[in-house]
Amino acid sequence: MPRFAEELRQRRHGYWLVHLRTVPRPAPAPGACGKIGAVMTVASQPPELAGIVARLRAAGCVFAEDEAGLLVEAAGTPAELAAMVDRRIAGHPLEQVLGWAEFAGLRILLEPGVFVPRRRTELLVREAAAVAPPGALVVDLCCGSGAIGAALLATGDRIELHAVDIDPAAVRCARRNIAAAGGGQVYPGDLYAPLPTTLQGQVDVVVANVPYVPTEAIDTLPPEAREHEPPLALDGGPDGLEVLRRVTTQAARWLAPGGHLFVETSSGQVGQAVDAFERGGLVPRVARSAELGATVVAGRRPV
Ligand SMILES: C[S@@+](CC[C@H](N)C(=O)[O-])C[C@H]1O[C@@H](n2cnc3c(N)ncnc32)[C@H](O)[C@@H]1O
Repeated sequence: MPRFAEELRQRRHGYWLVHLRTVPRPAPAPGACGKIGAVMTVASQPPELAGIVARLRAAGCVFAEDEAGLLVEAAGTPAELAAMVDRRIAGHPLEQVLGWAEFAGLRILLEPGVFVPRRRTELLVREAAAVAPPGALVVDLCCGSGAIGAALLATGDRIELHAVDIDPAAVRCARRNIAAAGGGQVYPGDLYAPLPTTLQGQVDVVVANVPYVPTEAIDTLPPEAREHEPPLALDGGPDGLEVLRRVTTQAARWLAPGGHLFVETSSGQVGQAVDAFERGGLVPRVARSAELGATVVAGRRPV
């Protein structure tokens, strides 16, 4: 069923936008055009809009009409619209051009160069939300824009959130998104290193969408990801699991007895990821969603 995100009945740049709605889309390749997935009905299509659609389509945007509508909605002036269309045609991810991404029903603010949250990561949010008790102490490692933490805050269970990212631009975004979702601490730094040591042995849930693309596969990613998302957000080392192993090695020290770690992986990495969880003293479980094209490895610290 379509989910209506917004209904616009306003005149922008000389024409009427009538319905703007988001619909579930099949999961596109990471970084592919059209991740936001909007459908727009334009009451009367002026030549300018048709021109934008044609330029976007010629640049390879699969959902050119939808994107044109989103760009028109986001731009404050015709000059701004022209600049945004140019950036999009030059290959910048739509979400970075708009300055936001839709994730788990939230509008997540994004700066250029910050990893665009993927819809498949909503599986990780669902899995974590299912086990987090009310008032849970949650740590989001490799938080990027803060999308996962913000989505967990939005569940309304008054979680206490501590988030970490090594990239200053990501930390800036996460601070804004997490503040808007209810608040939490966001630290710059390497994995667990900046967390207060008082959290050791206390954490109910650690979520970590670490970089997990094998170094050799980076060149095969769509240009939007390869050229406009930082390598640090994508590159997981020779087998893609280097950061994951660093997370699992230290997880039991931070988790409370019975606490959980959740990490997203590719389907081909599950066996090695499960081994890493076991070596870290966690009892592993694998969750998959065919709809989202997502795999999450979960691990519980024994009581
Ligand atoms: C795949 S992105 C995920 C971002 C966010 N969690 C999401 O799902 O949208 C990985 C993030 O990990 C961060 N990162 C990479 N290595 C890190 C490290 N050693 N410590 C903390 N953050 C790291 C990157 O800056 C990037 O923001």
